[in-house]
Amino acid sequence: MAEKIMNLKGRSFLTLKDYTPEEIEYLIDLAKDLKTKKKQGITGNSLKGKNIALIFEKPSTRTRCAFTVGCIDEGGHPEYLGKDDIQLGYKESVEDTARVLGRMFDGIEFRGFKQDTVEKLAKYSGVPVWNGLTDLDHPTQILADFLTLKEQFGTLKGLHLVYVGDGRNNMANSLMIGSAKLGINFTVLSPESLWTDEVLVAECQEYNKTSGGTITITDNIDAVKGADAVYTDVWCSMGEEALAGERIALLKPYQVNTELMNAVGTEKTVFLHCLPAVKSYEVTEEVFEAHADVIFDEAENRMHTIKAVMVATLGN
Ligand code: CP
Ligand code: NVA
Repeated sequence: MAEKIMNLKGRSFLTLKDYTPEEIEYLIDLAKDLKTKKKQGITGNSLKGKNIALIFEKPSTRTRCAFTVGCIDEGGHPEYLGKDDIQLGYKESVEDTARVLGRMFDGIEFRGFKQDTVEKLAKYSGVPVWNGLTDLDHPTQILADFLTLKEQFGTLKGLHLVYVGDGRNNMANSLMIGSAKLGINFTVLSPESLWTDEVLVAECQEYNKTSGGTITITDNIDAVKGADAVYTDVWCSMGEEALAGERIALLKPYQVNTELMNAVGTEKTVFLHCLPAVKSYEVTEEVFEAHADVIFDEAENRMHTIKAVMVATLGN
């Protein structure tokens, strides 16, 4: 139960760095409540009369659908603005588009390349802006991942989460931030050339001083031993397609396959993937299907958690 009412009204959601551990836990618990209600056929009207803009420079299945369904479930109106629908940043400045949308919409979701764009939208629109993924960060995904882990383990603090693959992409970054905020022991298992940005690691180590979490960055596969959860993501993020050959060569030894899962050596380990998955690259079909139930809980939880973010920051 989201027992404490926390006032997040009017806040943007650009990165978990901006949120306290209590606020993050609150959003996860609110999502859990909204999920329980939805399963009982109960939806709300907290976004009644609210219009939200969904800006997508990059493609999306889960994030777009989660914002759309979550908004409509709460009585709001979502408007999709794809990359060819508006002229964001190439004919009209981000600042101007932000000021226009802020006059017409009550909230804005942005998925695209630069973190700077989502920050400018928040600065100039005057309404809550939610980060639906940038090259650097994917904060709404972490809420879904952590709700899923909480459903599996009952708690988050002290869990051992091992992220395997591209250690410098948006998922590695965001999982590191979220883990450090909530006291999760986080390992990045990746070739050295893809290790996470040192400035971000230092920032997260500061959060760990309060939360009790830890960070390990290594290229040694033995690091998976004893993990509560193994996580992977695509080897080439959106926009990096040209790097495919190089990435496959680098990351092949880090594929999540049966051998790697056996090396974990525990019965209860869950496997998570933010999706979309490119099977037979970062994960084998066998491992994926063995863990499909939890992976698709995680995908479903995108909707409940994104709904929670909108309700908490914009809802009546
Ligand atoms: N995990 C995720 O963000 O999925 P989409 O790219 O389909 O939105
Ligand atoms: N790292 C991936 C995440 C997809 C949800 C990408 O940016 O394409």
